[in-house]
Amino acid sequence: MRIDHEALVIGAGGAGLWAALELARAGVSTGVLTKLYPTRSHTGAAQGGVCAALGNQEEDHWEWHMFDTVKGGDYLVDQDAAEVLAHEAIETVIELEHMGLPFNRTPDGKIDQRRFGGHTRNFGEGPVKRACFAADRTGHMILQTLYQNCIKAGVQFYDEYHVVDLLFEGGEGGDGGRAAGVVAYRIADGELHTFGAKAVLLATGGNGRMFSITSNAYSLTGDGMSLAYRHGIPLEDMEFYQFHPTGIYGIGILLSEAARGEGGTLLNADGERFMSRYAPKAMELAPRDMISRAIYLEIRDGRGAGPKKDYVYLDVRHLGRAVIEEKLPDITEFARVYLGVEPLTEPVPVQPTAHYAMGGIPTDLRTRVVRDEANTVVEGLFAAGEAACVSVHGANRLGTNSLVDLLVFGRRAGREMAAYCRAAEAPSIAADVEEPVRSELDALRTRPEGESPSALKAELATLMMDNVGVFRTARMMATAVAGVAAIKDRYTRVRVRDTGRIFNTDLLEARELGYLIDGAEAMASSAIARTESRGAHSRDDYPERDDVNFLAHTLAYRGEAGPSLRYKPVTITRFEPKPRTY
Ligand code: FUM
Repeated sequence: MRIDHEALVIGAGGAGLWAALELARAGVSTGVLTKLYPTRSHTGAAQGGVCAALGNQEEDHWEWHMFDTVKGGDYLVDQDAAEVLAHEAIETVIELEHMGLPFNRTPDGKIDQRRFGGHTRNFGEGPVKRACFAADRTGHMILQTLYQNCIKAGVQFYDEYHVVDLLFEGGEGGDGGRAAGVVAYRIADGELHTFGAKAVLLATGGNGRMFSITSNAYSLTGDGMSLAYRHGIPLEDMEFYQFHPTGIYGIGILLSEAARGEGGTLLNADGERFMSRYAPKAMELAPRDMISRAIYLEIRDGRGAGPKKDYVYLDVRHLGRAVIEEKLPDITEFARVYLGVEPLTEPVPVQPTAHYAMGGIPTDLRTRVVRDEANTVVEGLFAAGEAACVSVHGANRLGTNSLVDLLVFGRRAGREMAAYCRAAEAPSIAADVEEPVRSELDALRTRPEGESPSALKAELATLMMDNVGVFRTARMMATAVAGVAAIKDRYTRVRVRDTGRIFNTDLLEARELGYLIDGAEAMASSAIARTESRGAHSRDDYPERDDVNFLAHTLAYRGEAGPSLRYKPVTITRFEPKPRTY
């Protein structure tokens, strides 16, 4: 079946929803394709807050926020992008408030704000309250608010449509082609549909499911990144992957940094606040890369807790019942449900959990996808949110900068796409574009034998967790590069057990494994080539940052024999790189 719109938005998290809202307000015919129901998108799992220098309780300025973002990203951040982020955060959050988002309030009725790691006053003097929040359900509230506003504006949703290919006119995306639409698989009945459009936005989120301990939902398989990569578009800075320090021990579900923002502490097995050894000034409000490393070092040196000495504790007991119930209700409930621990009276076992991709599909400030080091635009293709790399997070993202990234750049994407659609002609689409995907899906379903995709996925996740995690060495990453290549080869022979068409999630999970493999390949290859330590990329064999050779973004291009790598310069406007201490 063929369906046409002027614009397509792939993904219904915060970035996709805000883009769709802008498009609908501009009168552009828009379809949102989402493999989930919109309100189940992963933005809903973001907990602690969205930052903006509102200065509601303490003096604050967007320039301070910009500086913190640049320093937090270990100077790999493009500073023109960080300026847009910090500056537009303010109007974006206020617009959300006016759309009806139920933020917590100060006694005088302003949006309440709390502390988060790496956010400081006056260029690093001390912590500042910058994270606007709705208890520990901020992402959930953002998702609900944007979805309701999209419904009000008449946005058309295609729920449970899994996008399986991108379409271009006049060549591949990486080779001068222009976006023309997508092919999508309708989960309900297994039918393929061709959607034509002048403008396509990839807002499909991250790929944390390539790791075995992750805060990411099962749906986070890097679909948009992989589809762009398969069409010749590079992936930028994939080696930088964030491990959030406080995942629930053993399962990785997030316990928000808001707990530390409200005064929670981290303790080792001896009950010691070990962050004094690693970030004596910022302590538990140091950036995430540093805290995750500190936890690993405590465990390595025998100060981990539990029978295997492999976790530390998050302690909120001293915050008291009122703060916990009003500001941290969800995460404390998670501790009760998943660990049987009562946070009012016991410290909670935690470990670092794979959380966020700093890298992704390269874009310019206007959210247009770019395909090389000269920032050549792929006409008609846009990206925003975690799927994209604009690059505001550099080598390490600060907490609460993800929600503001997807809001600021989702809003920009919608406006930019609306302007593009007004000027562009509708592209043409060939007749047989569904065929390659149909053959691939049929092969997965009808091959007489083959290994199980879910077992292969578990192998991939263990391989990546063990070798491309918080600490890395050349040997570990070489193991990952070779291991991913072997898994990629075996993937060509997997077979799903469900051969039907109705809600065949087995088939889609197999397809998603292919996306995860692409992301893992780009990540491991980009990581081994970066012979320095910067932000979340921490190498035992190259412990120092190397601004002479690596103050540069990696671009990984897909190739038959593995990715080929190129580099592009970092944009530096206001803040020269300095040693990063907290
Ligand atoms: O800890 C958190 O609430 C997560 C926030 C984020 O990743 O920005």
